[in-house]
Amino acid sequence: MPSQSPIKIAPAEGKLGVLIPGIGAVSTTFIAGVEAIKRGLALPIGSLTQLATIRLGKRTDGRSPYIKDFVPLAKLEDLVFGGWDIYDDTAYEAAVNAKVLEPSLLEQVKEPLQAIKPMKAVFDHEYIRNIDGPNKHTTGTKMDKAQALIADIAKFKADNGCARLVMIWCGSTEVFHRPSAVHESLEAFEAGLRNDNPEIAPSQIYAYAALKSGVPYINGAPNLTTDTQVLRDLARDKNLPICGKDFKTGQTFMKTLIAPGLKARMLGIHGWFSTNILGNRDGEVLEDPGSFKSKEETKLSVLEHILQPELYPDLYSKLYHAVRINYYPPRGDDKEGWDNIDIFGWLGYKMQIKIDFLCRDSILAAPLALDLVLFMDLAQRAGMKGIQEWLSFYFKGPMTAPGLYPEHDIFIQLMKLKNTLRWMQGEDLITHLGLEYYD
Ligand SMILES: NC(=O)c1ccc[n+]([C@@H]2O[C@H](COP(=O)([O-])OP(=O)(O)OC[C@H]3O[C@@H](n4cnc5c(N)ncnc54)[C@H](O)[C@@H]3O)[C@@H](O)[C@H]2O)c1
Repeated sequence: MPSQSPIKIAPAEGKLGVLIPGIGAVSTTFIAGVEAIKRGLALPIGSLTQLATIRLGKRTDGRSPYIKDFVPLAKLEDLVFGGWDIYDDTAYEAAVNAKVLEPSLLEQVKEPLQAIKPMKAVFDHEYIRNIDGPNKHTTGTKMDKAQALIADIAKFKADNGCARLVMIWCGSTEVFHRPSAVHESLEAFEAGLRNDNPEIAPSQIYAYAALKSGVPYINGAPNLTTDTQVLRDLARDKNLPICGKDFKTGQTFMKTLIAPGLKARMLGIHGWFSTNILGNRDGEVLEDPGSFKSKEETKLSVLEHILQPELYPDLYSKLYHAVRINYYPPRGDDKEGWDNIDIFGWLGYKMQIKIDFLCRDSILAAPLALDLVLFMDLAQRAGMKGIQEWLSFYFKGPMTAPGLYPEHDIFIQLMKLKNTLRWMQGEDLITHLGLEYYD
């Protein structure tokens, strides 16, 4: 029999507001999808919270409820959406421009999408160089902008009668920066906001505003944002969960499926060359070397952590890994990712694997955004604070405690996620030992 749950989880009562910096391809595909699913027009394919089951107890017990019936998640009917963007297009117009979903589907969810008008963005051209737009704050210090976001959050909550909120960054990828002195303490950070310190990125102003307002923050891009001492500490002090970073879709998703398999069989890898073409606005932003550098960091780190060349020097110490992204407008959101993997087996004999993944970026990202919103709301009701490593499953560059290497193997990540849910509900963790079946 299950033991007592170690934690108390508040019920998912009332509306859950989803606040999104960046009303672009991913976020509109997410919102339009939720509205279509609510109306019975489509299925939530790709979403664990909506479709996956979780095995409880022994294999012979026959207990495999849906995750959504096992833990108290907010219902899709209770989600309310809002956001910010530098363009003043409604979510409907942004979805039409993104050209991810068919016009006939968008027509059927036009009303709720049209009602979402982006609030004025906090934007800095130094952090996102290839785009600019009119719907942004142009005066005041960074602290004034943070206060404006805090006021937006409070107004959104009151206007929509939300019981709780979650913020998820679906904005563009910012230029690569490392943490600096301004990120070391709240005092330094708030002084930096007042003095317009150039090391404070717009995404950090959103995250600060969210945490100050008691709202969990999810980082869907490779931006530094909450990977800083100050915002990690603020999340813990405020009893709020944070997670990131960079949705694991497309090519990196494939990498974390295949690399653990090759390693499991002790097959060596000489080289892994990955290249992509994509033609959406994300691709346009990633043309800038500064933004690409942020992406490259999360994409490259994956193999190193999975393959552990320090433990297996004969197999992986000479691995040459390169990642390229090219902006190619004719493809729009329909990315194509090629991988050439040079592997070697018994006695060093060489082989090759070629992958050509014709994927749809936002179609892969939207269910991740949904799951993350629902799980982070669960985490906040369960009083789980700080970095939520159990949500690594969703990210290319999972956040971890400083000094701890991230777990990238998607199957270990899934086990960790499900065991965390079991732990939350006082169920036995599954170790896969299974000796009892043969006693
Ligand atoms: N689609 C995927 O598979 C995928 C995977 C991993 C990560 N991501 C990341 O998710 C993010 C969104 O991707 P997308 O395809 O929707 O891009 P997009 O360009 O369609 O949308 C991003 C939106 O963010 C807005 N924006 C930029 N800076 C802003 C700011 N400071 N405040 C408010 N809005 C701002 C832009 O105007 C744009 O409308 C990107 O960072 C991307 O790298 C996407």
